[in-house]
Amino acid sequence: MDKVIVVASKNAGKIKEFKEMLEPKGFEVKSLADFPDIGEIDETGTTFSANAIIKAQAITDKYNIMAISDDSGLEIDAFDKQPGVQSARWLGHDTPYSYKNQVVLDRMKDETNRSCRYVCAIAVTRPGKEPVVFEETVECVIAKEPSGKNGFGYDPIVYYEPFGKTMAEMTNEEKNRISHRGKAVVRLETWMEHEGL
Ligand code: IMP
Repeated sequence: MDKVIVVASKNAGKIKEFKEMLEPKGFEVKSLADFPDIGEIDETGTTFSANAIIKAQAITDKYNIMAISDDSGLEIDAFDKQPGVQSARWLGHDTPYSYKNQVVLDRMKDETNRSCRYVCAIAVTRPGKEPVVFEETVECVIAKEPSGKNGFGYDPIVYYEPFGKTMAEMTNEEKNRISHRGKAVVRLETWMEHEGL
């Protein structure tokens, strides 16, 4: 494999999905775990795109290499689009998702507007070039109860109506085909081919 992509993340679930999508295309996917001296990157942006650029740019600036970063999260309309860019930190970074998901369900108990979406912004940064960002969404609803063991994070309560199942009930292939991240990766790949990368 000659093409290396650094995914500026330590999130094992996200890195696994990136590997599944990019390794078959001949990319070696590295993560922040391969760059321990970079330390924590503060996500100070208020949008997914801004945070994606901050993370990738930190790698490019330090190592003078191309990097990509995904910033993603869940917007729940009844919560005024929270947790949004706070999705990983919401109710505490280390709080188990079984608990976070139950809090969402409890707060949504009498809510009729259950619409939500996953958003994913993928930023590409390269030495001496402007960052490029691809942002995609997948429209879903909050389920009535958690279901499914696949995926990660909020997936057991995020119900995708066209398939009649939660994200956690999908196979990896199904999720990657319709997900916010899957769609953003397709745009990334198209752009990379166009750029000859
Ligand atoms: P980030 O690592 O700061 O981009 O945070 C992303 C967070 O958004 C994750 O830790 C999850 O809480 C949530 N999230 C993003 N994409 C997904 C997904 O595909 N499934 C479940 N949760 C997701």
